[in-house]
Amino acid sequence: MRKNKVFIACDTTNIKKVKKIIKETKNNKLIVGYKFGLEFLNSKYGRQYISKLKNKIIFGDYKISDIPNTCVSTIRAIKDLKFNYITIHINSGFDALKKTKESVGKTKLIGVTILTSLDNKAIKEIGFSKNVKELVLHQAKLATKAKLDAIVCSAQEVKIVKKVFKKEIITPGIRLNSKRDDQKRVLTPSEAFKNGADWIVIGRDITRGSIKNNIQKLINHLYK
Ligand code: C5P
Repeated sequence: MRKNKVFIACDTTNIKKVKKIIKETKNNKLIVGYKFGLEFLNSKYGRQYISKLKNKIIFGDYKISDIPNTCVSTIRAIKDLKFNYITIHINSGFDALKKTKESVGKTKLIGVTILTSLDNKAIKEIGFSKNVKELVLHQAKLATKAKLDAIVCSAQEVKIVKKVFKKEIITPGIRLNSKRDDQKRVLTPSEAFKNGADWIVIGRDITRGSIKNNIQKLINHLYK
């Protein structure tokens, strides 16, 4: 049986909690990677902890969004952490994407499209005139042009993205139940994989409450 790939979002500042997440999500049905976002990466001991992690698939969700020179310097500054994946906002623009990709070495550079917490109303408010689906498609084309290694989009846009982007697709905004929190564009894990996602990202639905029970729920849901 093909193992589904899941990044667990370690959104906390607490090292003990991260250790618990890693320990309790260990299983032989899924390929599990660990995603560290701005909260953990900026915490007092976060960087140091990541520098000591061994034999794990690690994802630095830096969501870089800056001018090309700063993007490249950031990559240089975190090179020692040897992340498998790092994110950059596609909104940083083609030059930033291209230069960052050229400097990233073996790490896979993921382009982040429109955040899964935004819907059509929210992006209109920001000033975009395209709708979410049109924008994500547009950004996916730019990611292809800049030779990025992966894309983050909502699971609702995977089929559209696949038309123009042929590498890995990673989808946050995953929910096992109806509690959406701050996410707007959500789907279930099985729907995401059915649409063609290579990886799903799950945070709170796994890390909130009993981690062991939640991971078992996810496995039951995926392999029923
Ligand atoms: O708790 P939840 O499952 O909503 O967490 C989703 C994770 O994925 C968070 O760490 C969030 O920062 C990240 N993410 C996202 N939407 C994106 C990119 C990243 O939710 N477009």
